[in-house]
Amino acid sequence: NGCKLVGCGSAVPKLQISNDDLAKIVDTNDEWISSRTGIRNRRVLSGNENLTTLAVEAARKALEMAKVDPDDIDLILMCTSTPDDLFGNGPKIQKELGINKSVLAYDITAACSGFILGLISAASHIRGSGFRNVLVIGADAISRFVDWTDRGSCILFGDGAGAVLVQACNPEEDGLFSFDLHSDGDGIRHLNATLKESEAGNAFDPNGSLLDFPPRRSAYSCIQMNGKEVFRFAIRKVPQSIESALSKAGLSVSSIDWLLLHQANERIIDGVANRLEVASEKVIKNLENYGNTSAASIPMALDEGVRSGKIKKGQTIASAGFGAGLTWGSAIFRW
Ligand code: ACO
Repeated sequence: NGCKLVGCGSAVPKLQISNDDLAKIVDTNDEWISSRTGIRNRRVLSGNENLTTLAVEAARKALEMAKVDPDDIDLILMCTSTPDDLFGNGPKIQKELGINKSVLAYDITAACSGFILGLISAASHIRGSGFRNVLVIGADAISRFVDWTDRGSCILFGDGAGAVLVQACNPEEDGLFSFDLHSDGDGIRHLNATLKESEAGNAFDPNGSLLDFPPRRSAYSCIQMNGKEVFRFAIRKVPQSIESALSKAGLSVSSIDWLLLHQANERIIDGVANRLEVASEKVIKNLENYGNTSAASIPMALDEGVRSGKIKKGQTIASAGFGAGLTWGSAIFRW
């Protein structure tokens, strides 16, 4: 089997927070944030919005574009590190889409690399296990884990969701050309949101007695980030990964129409484009309005590019995700 992308969609929360708004919470200003990151606004969940609602809205738009009925989906891959349910958000998406037949739905946790991993998993399931219509959703509500008192990290993130429908096709129409994937667990010290140290122990002692009453409840810390190290890692590893994926596909940088990177920081995007010698007109950016939306950023920017008419059918896209783990990876695909 081949596989191809046949639809995309995205959704963002209602509440917009500008750099000036953030300057009322932490010691920062619009000039610093926009010149260091390229970000001016971000959307965050408020009131009773949740991640599932956003993901379902993005998924419905992708299905509508693909002209595929929810009941024709046989696999849902929910790429998120901030699920509404710790046990998995995928099955909830299945329910909210009104899919009553038996399908497989599960989560992929790989922070900002999540969507690229989802695409690769979709291709593997289609090629190896005969799935026909795979919904890949990248959705994150990083605002849930941001330390809103840390000006070094809270200015970067926003919430959102993006989705694509990957469909089985004839091998001649195959539109997912090649991938390249990595992780480096040593780098977890540079970017993480782990169990709080005070909560990391177990509830019972080895004799089976409860250590405290009421029993302790696990809780995760806010995002801990060494921005400079993450920046260096991205600039070094992402170009290598894209070159490796291109070479596996027998392509060169000159054969790509668009460079679509995880939207973390405009200086990272420009740095990678410079190293690869990709002209600035071929670089997709939308982080000015949304900040870093983690697993959602690539499908959100793809959707915006497609719906605005910038990205056209048949064009070749080199995409890369990178972030916590550390994880990073690239995919070369045709829209
Ligand atoms: N406003 C004003 N000043 C600030 C702010 C702020 N929001 N944040 C930091 N500063 C100050 C610092 O305190 C420092 O002051 P000092 O020189 O007096 O000590 C100065 O600005 C420079 O700070 P740096 O941290 O060196 O600034 P840098 O140029 O490295 O930019 C940034 C920081 C924007 C975080 C950058 O390092 C970056 O974007 N890194 C990548 C982070 C990233 O993409 N993370 C997400 C990965 S995806 C995922 O998986 C979740």
